[in-house]
Amino acid sequence: MVRLARTIFGMLFGWIVAGVLSIFGRFHHDPMQGKTQRRTFVRNAALGASTSVLALTGATFVALMWPNKTGAFGSKITVPKADVPAVDGAPFRHVQGKFYLVNSKDGLMALYTKCPHLGCAVPWVGPADSPSAFQCPCHGSMYDYVGVRTGGPAPRPMDYMGVSVDPDGNVVVDTGDIQRRTGFEASQAVKYS
Ligand code: FES
Repeated sequence: MVRLARTIFGMLFGWIVAGVLSIFGRFHHDPMQGKTQRRTFVRNAALGASTSVLALTGATFVALMWPNKTGAFGSKITVPKADVPAVDGAPFRHVQGKFYLVNSKDGLMALYTKCPHLGCAVPWVGPADSPSAFQCPCHGSMYDYVGVRTGGPAPRPMDYMGVSVDPDGNVVVDTGDIQRRTGFEASQAVKYS
């Protein structure tokens, strides 16, 4: 809908430019002779037509290529307190934000769902105490509850995102803050009570 509106805007812009140029061409006079010069008029009309086509094409191209917001990924996302999993509970998955919120005894972590091997989405299979709680279907990489690699070709643990907790107990995940690591440290988790 937004893209359609931008395209229509681009076309209107082009038509306005064409109209302005057409008016200039129509009223161009030679003050010395007091009459419209046919040759100048034709040249201006051709110039106006060419410019209008270019303006239309350019405006439409810009409208179509304008970057669209593709959802919540890249921004801060609030997970309501009611959706925060219990300690060692099944993770809360935010599909658009591309993360799992897990709650280990060390605290909360938001694990990036993108497999650090070749980028497939990694499903949760559970349970929390399994060394393969997350299993990538593409090449078999496995990760435990806090995203540490326990098998397969992945070169590192699952990446994680910045997490904070607001005064009401809601959890804010910064999906624009994705961090790599070589293993798990308690400092990667955010205490939650
Ligand atoms: S993409 Fe996940 S193991 Fe290859």
